[in-house]
Amino acid sequence: MCEILQRSGTVVANRKLADNLFLLDIQSREIACAMGPGQFIHVQIPGMDARILRRPFSVYQVDEAAGTMSVLYQTVGAGTQHLAALEAPFSVDIIGPVGNCWEVPEGNDRLLLVAGGVGAAPLFVYAQQLVAAGKQVDVVLGAQNKDALVAREAYEELLGVEPYCATDDGSYGYHGFCTGVVSELAKSKQYGLVACCGPEPMMKIVSDIALDSNIPARVSLEKRMACGIGACLSCVVNTVDGYKRSCVDGPIFDAAKVVW
Ligand SMILES: Cc1cc2nc3c(=O)[nH]c(=O)nc-3n(C[C@H](O)[C@H](O)[C@H](O)COP(=O)(O)OP(=O)(O)OC[C@H]3O[C@@H](n4cnc5c(N)ncnc54)[C@H](O)[C@@H]3O)c2cc1C
Ligand code: FES
Repeated sequence: MCEILQRSGTVVANRKLADNLFLLDIQSREIACAMGPGQFIHVQIPGMDARILRRPFSVYQVDEAAGTMSVLYQTVGAGTQHLAALEAPFSVDIIGPVGNCWEVPEGNDRLLLVAGGVGAAPLFVYAQQLVAAGKQVDVVLGAQNKDALVAREAYEELLGVEPYCATDDGSYGYHGFCTGVVSELAKSKQYGLVACCGPEPMMKIVSDIALDSNIPARVSLEKRMACGIGACLSCVVNTVDGYKRSCVDGPIFDAAKVVW
């Protein structure tokens, strides 16, 4: 793992994409250029009480030439709602890159990436890396409705085909949870690896489908975090090898080792 840096960054854009969904562009060249796929940044949201903890966000896209990184975030509580109300440009204190990376496997096996909601963000840089390495990649995106499938066009542009989409309300693609699509794909295609990021219950189902089909699976576990640097143990994950810190031992884990 590379060194974790603490730097001041400038938020150059903070745009609303859909209900409760925002895109943040942060200029912080050193951290942006050091980010690996699946790693995250720990952000001190400005203007909140100094006692408020940093908030972890995955990096969705990196523009090395501009020295910027994008974060796709959902407003769920006080911190993200406060962030959404801030008008760019403004400064943020960031720690990063934190955590482990998605790995590019050897061989020519097809890979299946499964994202629920904003889980589409951390898998995008991985998909870019896999495509650049010449891998065959299928992507399944699940969201509550069509508007929340925000990374769909970016994935389509990258893959050259539309990703498999599922919406809870049936407003786009398969009507139902994306796990239904994953179940069908696991029966009809041969995959060498499944990588998944999204709500925990969905990741558990995807892992079960993959492991039942003898496909190795990796999951990105987004536990609540405090320090983000491995010191406080607030983010532990139970595994068959004992408790692991999600922030520095993860967030990506072998699904076969997670005690759900
Ligand atoms: C490694 C990692 C990467 C993440 N990447 C992203 C991302 O790219 N985009 C994004 O929108 N969010 C991401 N999250 C989740 C994000 O950090 C939380 O949504 C955010 O911290 C909530 O802050 P808040 O102050 O708005 O909410 P709080 O007031 O702290 O909490 C409000 C609600 O959000 C839930 N919540 C808080 N933290 C998490 C969490 N870690 N995972 C799931 N639910 C949580 C709480 O249970 C509560 O119901 C990531 C989390 C981790 C650990
Ligand atoms: S957040 Fe402190 S150890 Fe992981």
